[in-house]
Amino acid sequence: MSDTRFSKNILCIGAGYVGGPTMAVIAAKCPQYKVTVVDINAARIDAWNSDNLPIYEPGLLDVVKQARGRNLFFSTDIDAAIREAQIIFVSVNTPTKTFGEGAGKAADLQYWELTARNIVKVATSDKIIIEKSTLPVKTAEAMGRILNANEKGIKFEVLSNPEFLAEGTAVSDLEKPDRVLIGSQLTPEGIKARDEVVEIYANWVPDEKILTSNIWSSELSKLVANAFLAQRISSINSISALCEKTDANVSEVSRAIGMDTRIGNKFLSSSVGFGGSCFQKDILNLVYICQSYGLSEVADYWERVVLMNEYQKRRFVQNMLKVMFNTVAGKKIALFGFAFKADTGDTRESPAIDVAKQLLEEHAKVVITDPQALNNAKIDLAAYADKIEFIEDPYEAAKGAHAIAVMTEWKEYKALDYKRIFSGMERPSFVFDGRNILNHEELFNIGFNVFPLGQPNHKHF
Ligand code: NAD
Ligand code: UGA
Repeated sequence: MSDTRFSKNILCIGAGYVGGPTMAVIAAKCPQYKVTVVDINAARIDAWNSDNLPIYEPGLLDVVKQARGRNLFFSTDIDAAIREAQIIFVSVNTPTKTFGEGAGKAADLQYWELTARNIVKVATSDKIIIEKSTLPVKTAEAMGRILNANEKGIKFEVLSNPEFLAEGTAVSDLEKPDRVLIGSQLTPEGIKARDEVVEIYANWVPDEKILTSNIWSSELSKLVANAFLAQRISSINSISALCEKTDANVSEVSRAIGMDTRIGNKFLSSSVGFGGSCFQKDILNLVYICQSYGLSEVADYWERVVLMNEYQKRRFVQNMLKVMFNTVAGKKIALFGFAFKADTGDTRESPAIDVAKQLLEEHAKVVITDPQALNNAKIDLAAYADKIEFIEDPYEAAKGAHAIAVMTEWKEYKALDYKRIFSGMERPSFVFDGRNILNHEELFNIGFNVFPLGQPNHKHF
């Protein structure tokens, strides 16, 4: 039964990086709605109910505290919440399939399908089901079939409302989105359901930023947005390699091309590689979909974006090896940062994972420091636990090291006392700036040999 104290009962299944922040913002902006977030992971739900949230995201605790207990609830009672809700967002994980047909590329939809089947089993009234997870184009067709093949006479309308937030800026992305996209079937029932969801966002998002489209365009737009973003990074990273051969400076090239308003200046920072749980997974999914429609040229085109990213990570370590006299065996190397980007503790697909593993293969002694991601780093590298040190204080981490490799663009790293760090390191001392965030000239003057990405190096020998 719906909770009649509220004008809508909204549920989100999946209390992760997307479900938690998205629903917290809806609840904070719309006190007239009851927003419940459920998960099978009881520890995660306990954390959402505490002041020690399960994810690190700037500003999120304040938003949660505004609404929690008022109209925002975190629970493990999934079935009761399904019965109560009129609108259900599904934000469970959709990782790359690791088995069977499409292994390594296709999206693994088992969590989504289980959720859909549970909704059908438990529901006692009509509902709008919203794809919040990123899904292959045409998933709504299968979901509609599963949901509507019930013998209870209950009608489910499936919509697509992909999420575009980026970690580290999730709260502001949700509060001021570039756009909100809602895809529906263009039937009277589809349009009615779509308008109900438009009404939710219209509480704080300007009308012109709420886009509606057919459901397939909406599903596909999410994959394409991530593919285009990642493509820009692979493009500039490919140019960073050429810059290193030609004494051009990739930051200067980025600035010069980014001032062309047709190109735009965002997402042109060269890096050790893009990470995060979605770029690679979503592109591989796009590749798989293209392949399954026989579009092998299109598939190959997009696959290059991922292959270039792999190359950039490999190239970074190969360069370290070459510069450090072709061996890092027995040398201590401090990785500054392990999160896949700054302002998050998330390490999923972080380029630092590959760099650490490659360095370990070369028998380097790896020390990892990060202000938020050490717990996740320990999990990611559990198999190598006896070979790695995890040290919170960057000064301690760099003690006795031959080299520092910047993996994450934490602003803290720009403000460190590098004279102090230098004094405790082995000679010659190296800095490999995988994010181009440090002051290379200054580091060189202190005595470091500095190797930025795609920029001329500064070395004393
Ligand atoms: P996540 O792994 O952090 O969270 C998913 C949650 O779903 C987990 O807590 C898991 O326990 C829960 N879950 C799985 N099966 C369940 C079930 N049957 N019932 C209840 N709960 C269940 O994942 P995420 O990063 O939040 O991503 C979720 C989706 O959103 C993915 O499709 C992803 O591609 C997409 N997405 C993610 C981001 C991001 O920044 N992380 C941004 C946009 C879109
Ligand atoms: C990305 C998209 O930006 C979001 O719109 C999308 O919703 C999300 O994926 C998703 O679907 O999961 P996110 O992965 O959280 O968000 O973070 P980004 O800021 O996109 O960064 C991704 C990776 O690219 C990071 O490793 C980052 O360091 C790297 N990056 C980014 C660069 O190397 N250079 C750049 O110029 C920008």
